Amino acid sequence: MITGSTAGIGAAFARRLAADGHNLVLVARDTERLREQATELHDRHGIEAKVLTADLATDSGISSVEKRLSDRKQPVDLLVNNAGFANKGAFLDVPVADELTMLKVHCEAVLRLTSAVVPGMRARGRGGVVNVASVAAFVPRGTYGASKAWVVQFTQGVARDLAGSGVRLMALCPGLVRTEFHERAGMGTGNVPGWMWLDADKVVTAALADLARGRNVSVPDPRYKALMGAVKLAPRGLLGGVTAKTGRKFGPSRPQ
Ligand SMILES: NC(=O)c1ccc[n+]([C@@H]2O[C@H](COP(=O)([O-])OP(=O)(O)OC[C@H]3O[C@@H](n4cnc5c(N)ncnc54)[C@H](OP(=O)(O)O)[C@@H]3O)[C@@H](O)[C@H]2O)c1
Repeated sequence: MITGSTAGIGAAFARRLAADGHNLVLVARDTERLREQATELHDRHGIEAKVLTADLATDSGISSVEKRLSDRKQPVDLLVNNAGFANKGAFLDVPVADELTMLKVHCEAVLRLTSAVVPGMRARGRGGVVNVASVAAFVPRGTYGASKAWVVQFTQGVARDLAGSGVRLMALCPGLVRTEFHERAGMGTGNVPGWMWLDADKVVTAALADLARGRNVSVPDPRYKALMGAVKLAPRGLLGGVTAKTGRKFGPSRPQ
């Protein structure tokens, strides 16, 4: 099962897993787009792709996905908690309701969907959960970074609890990836140097390789591995200033 399967990183997971011959459950809000995707993946790869329309910013949406994940008659072997978005503007410009919606999608949905799927996986002695975080988890970047830091901590903690059970959990922490993400948030990306952009299909290839290796945290691509290595060594206070400055110069700009 892939949440946020219809675009960007989720769509890349769907393409790769379908090409590898896996049946899929595709989750997002736009039913028509989900149906088109399911038909295309079925026609191209001969797999069965089911559609589950759900808004993970709502209780009813999360509940419907939880229900499907805890159905032991249709076990899910791999859950990719990928659905996510950015809010427009700096902390004080964003309505608190929108920040809470982000926490619902990035944290509550990830918590509840993981909790729904893991007991069945543990009983079967195998399974995997990939929680899509971000390199923003490692630097002070407002509610978005804080929510992704929660994803990393949560994933590492549960992975430790389940060590030896046959169930693997991994937080995937990509840098900038060319998807619909920045456009949806109204962010300009004209000042982002070309070398900073990652390709979604390559991110997924690296992620699945790291999952197979048993990593709990995956930072795809050597450029971002090196950057995150430097971030780990930098004093926290300095890091806030430097990342804010470089973010303004080279990062996606605030909404126009
Ligand atoms: N792009 C980057 O630079 C980047 C970097 C690091 C991490 N990430 C993370 O990667 C993940 C995927 O991002 P992306 O770049 O691939 O974004 P994207 O291209 O905008 O795709 C987002 C996907 O999530 C779905 N979605 C959004 N809100 C949802 C909701 N409330 N309920 C259910 N589905 C929802 C969208 O479909 P519907 O609109 O139909 O629901 C779409 O399928 C996110 O968690 C993001 O934080 C992205």
